[in-house]
Formats: sequence, C-alpha cells, structure tokens
Amino acid sequence: MPAITSSAPGKVILCGEHAVVYGAPAIALPVFNVSTKTTVVARPAAPEGAVRIIAPCVNLNSSFEEIEDNHPLRAAVSLVLKELGIARLQACEIRIGTSIPIAAGLGSSASVTVSLARALSAFLGHPLPDASINHIAFEVEKIHHGTPSGIDNTVITYQVPVYFQKGMPIEHLAIRNPFTLVIADSGWHSPTAEMVAGVRERWLADRERYERLFSKIASLSIEIKNFLLEGDLAANGNYLTRNHELLRELGVSTPLLDKLVNAALEAGAYGAKLSGGGGGGTIIALVNEASADTVTTALEQHGASRTITTTIQPPRGLQ
Ligand code: MEV
Repeated sequence: MPAITSSAPGKVILCGEHAVVYGAPAIALPVFNVSTKTTVVARPAAPEGAVRIIAPCVNLNSSFEEIEDNHPLRAAVSLVLKELGIARLQACEIRIGTSIPIAAGLGSSASVTVSLARALSAFLGHPLPDASINHIAFEVEKIHHGTPSGIDNTVITYQVPVYFQKGMPIEHLAIRNPFTLVIADSGWHSPTAEMVAGVRERWLADRERYERLFSKIASLSIEIKNFLLEGDLAANGNYLTRNHELLRELGVSTPLLDKLVNAALEAGAYGAKLSGGGGGGTIIALVNEASADTVTTALEQHGASRTITTTIQPPRGLQ
C-alpha cells in the first residue's frame, strides 16, 4: 500500500479571541506559510495492530499501546477509527512533522489533528469529509485546551477565512480584497489552556466588567467582517489595534507583545494586535507592500524571534 500524506495549515485570529469562548463572533484566517504534514505508511512485515507514531514536535516516538490514553495523538487515532467503525488498525507507521511553533497562537494542535485525521482516514481507504475531520479536531482540542470555542479546528479544517460564532453555522468569508499581514512570534510560548483558564477566573470574579469587554470585542468582529466583505480593511486597521487594547484589558497581553504591537504601528502598520491565546505567542500587523519590510525589520529589532509575511487572497472568481 502506498504511503499517504496530508497537510494542514496554521492559523491566525484576526479579531475576537477569548471573547469567542463566551459566544462572541470572531474571525480566523488560515496561514499556509506554515503547516503540518502527516504521512502514514503500511508495515506489511509487522504484526497486525503494530502502530507506531513518530512526532518529533511533541517528542514522541512510541508504539500506540505505550501512549497514555488521554494523549491527544492517541485520542485522534481512536476518534478516526470510531468515526469509521473500524475496531483495529492495520500495522503502520504515522509520521507527523510541523513547521508551526507549538503554543505560539498559530494553531499547531488543531493543525496536527486535522492532518493526522485526514491522512489516516485516507490510508484506511475512507477519507473522512470535512465535517467529521472538524468534529474529531474539536474533540482533541478539548484535551489540549479544556474549553475551546472551536474556531481553531474550524479554520484549519476548512482552510478559508471564517467568521465563527459558537452554536451558529460556520460562515466562510469571501473577502473582497487581498491584504497582507506580518506575523511575529514573540518567542515566548504559553499554553492556550492556561490563558483561557486565567480569563475564566477573572470573568468569574467580575462578570460585568468582562462581559462588557467581550461585547466590545464582538462589535469589532462585526465591523471587521464588513470591512473584509466590502473592501477596506486597511483604512480601518485601527480596529485591530482596538482589539489589542481590549485583549490587554482582558489580561492576556504581555509587555513584549505590547512592545511588538507598538513597534509595528510606529513602523507604519495600519493596525496590530496579539493573535491567539496571548501570554506570549504571536502578534499580527496589517501592512501594505510599502510598509511590509520596514514593519518586519522593526519587529525583529524589538525582539520577534521569527516573522512571516502572508497575503490573504479573495476566493478565486472574486479577484
Ligand atoms: C485560540 O486560538 C483562541 C482562543 O479564543 C481559544 C478558543 O477560542 O478556543 C484563545
């Protein structure tokens, strides 16, 4: 049987992280400059059921049986088998490699699950549809993050810009004009679960204040969605910066993230904000062709460990 490979992108949140956990809408974009690749290869000489998972990104090189029950990779494999109604996996090796930094706000956990679920189901002869892949990735996100909103698995499964609100149908955003983001990794990585738990603790202590912040963030997501659909996000880049201010008030920014946001703005970005769980991780800066290099240099000079420039394109046919 030939080796089967599947890839999944990373993601950024353009607006609405954290508030989305409490029912506010948020906007997420796939980032194809980074990705996860999973390859599944049959081991014809190995005994039935001898499955090995090799994932250097999480320091794992083990047989399936040796991996603890609630490990996200074991859970992902089990969920694929359950979805397909298959009791036992034939002998194979599952190799996972990712260029997405872990716990950096770029969706590494959802990307790993989506690429694994797609590759494994295809290897078993029954490639799962997007809805099933998304469901599996959401279940595994719960192991990673406790109470995920579902936005990361959704944008990474469908690989298009999404306007996401818990409990509502997924809206694919057919953006009107391309725009460019510089993504800067602060080099400080912070588990999303801890950041989400911190917001929950503060929300429980002062619901009124936090719900006011969530609702201000919700209004920004609605406005930004309209700019994306009607054409002029760049002229309204300050909405991203306003989202950053509200994230600061939620307590998820850090002095380094604030410094990177300010450096991007001073270097000519239209707007900038932290993206993802915060506490470290990445910021995004909305730029144009003329400012992209200057903003990138400023971010590197102010401590970014890595930068990525990505352009989000309208769907084909709308260009
Ligand atoms: C993480 O990319 C986004 C958060 O809002 C968590 C979630 O929505 O599950 C921080």
